[in-house]
Amino acid sequence: MDKNLEKFVKDEFFKRRDAESKNFESTVTVGFPVYDEQEVLAALDCLLNLRLSQGPIVKEFEKEAASYMDVPHAVAVNSGTSANMLALASLINLGMINPGDEVIVPAATFSSVVSPIYQLGLVPVYVDVGQTDWFMNVDEVSKSITDKTKVIMPVYNLGFPGEIEKIVDLAQEKKLKILEDCCEAHGGERKGKKLGAYGDVSALSFFVAHNITTGEGGMIFSSNEEIDNALRELREFGRLFDSKNRFYNDNLLSDYDVRYVSKTSGYNVRMTDVAASMGRVQLSKLDFLNEKRREVVEKIVEIINKKEWLSTIVPREGDKSAHYGIPILIDSEAPFSRKEICVYLESKGIETRAMMMGCLPDQPAFRDLNHRIHGDLEFSRTLRDKAFFIGCHPALNDGHINLIEESLKSFYKKN
Ligand SMILES: Cc1ncc(COP(=O)(O)O)c(C=O)c1O
Repeated sequence: MDKNLEKFVKDEFFKRRDAESKNFESTVTVGFPVYDEQEVLAALDCLLNLRLSQGPIVKEFEKEAASYMDVPHAVAVNSGTSANMLALASLINLGMINPGDEVIVPAATFSSVVSPIYQLGLVPVYVDVGQTDWFMNVDEVSKSITDKTKVIMPVYNLGFPGEIEKIVDLAQEKKLKILEDCCEAHGGERKGKKLGAYGDVSALSFFVAHNITTGEGGMIFSSNEEIDNALRELREFGRLFDSKNRFYNDNLLSDYDVRYVSKTSGYNVRMTDVAASMGRVQLSKLDFLNEKRREVVEKIVEIINKKEWLSTIVPREGDKSAHYGIPILIDSEAPFSRKEICVYLESKGIETRAMMMGCLPDQPAFRDLNHRIHGDLEFSRTLRDKAFFIGCHPALNDGHINLIEESLKSFYKKN
């Protein structure tokens, strides 16, 4: 790229970013896209090369993401929701699971974990999450398995690694598939292995609030070539994915252009080369950005730990959390409600969010649908009523952290 153009883009980017950053000086947002002129230049290069839709840059991004995760295959899509949907649809298309089969999920998480399960005619089985990691309770998962169970779908809430190796043992013993939802856990690790490299298939999101972003985007990882091919077919209209042959033949079609052979009813959930060009640069910064998040988290956790009636969770020794957000649980004895503390923090410029959908089967969309609830989901319902999270993105500085400390201090004085 022309050096003058590079310089212009860099100067212009920082001029605008610095102006925009002023708006965020006294605001602790939940998410913030941390990128610079490198991502802009990569996207611009793509546009200048007339690369608009899915093409060679997506392929490069897939290769680099698979290598980062240390898994053989990666398929880029347009969101984490699409990633979960395609992952399940690929297992159905391959006959590995069938509509009516049960998928065990944590009750407390985001709706995109279960929407595709219902949409594809599968049956979610809700189990409670544990208090130390807000990850699906492994004993409850074990007890909830029936003859109809075919998939376990662990989710790393807010980026915290759970005991995934125990889920793997269970799945192997009972011959179940694992779909790992790592949409909040980019680059997190459990026992030295990347979250997302444990399952038969796993899903990632590159939505703008996440640890790395392409604006909107997602990726599906697998170690099985059959699943990888099925994903590629489903991603693009259901057309036959055949990288070796140019023409297709069967008893009705003769030397037919392979790109126009419909093998299955599919979707169009492709990622664009423009998004992938940003994604490649973001991926190269992921470990650095996660390290920055850990530094921010350490300081904020210290503040929270000093506060009566508030608690948070930390990763187990040796594990690496990807820290999507900082979870905060309010004690049942606290003299204030979640609404009161959240409204107060928001009034001070600190964004808060409920712990995703709290307890999914209690949500209006899912209440009356076909699912099974295992146990009383007591802790998921505690999270529904008493938990929230705040941001911990790498653009937060000591001024922001001081704002959190001072705001909590004044809230406690008031209460
Ligand atoms: C656990 C989980 N799964 C799936 C998704 C869906 O990802 P996307 O927003 O990219 O569709 C999200 C959203 O952030 C999520 O938190």
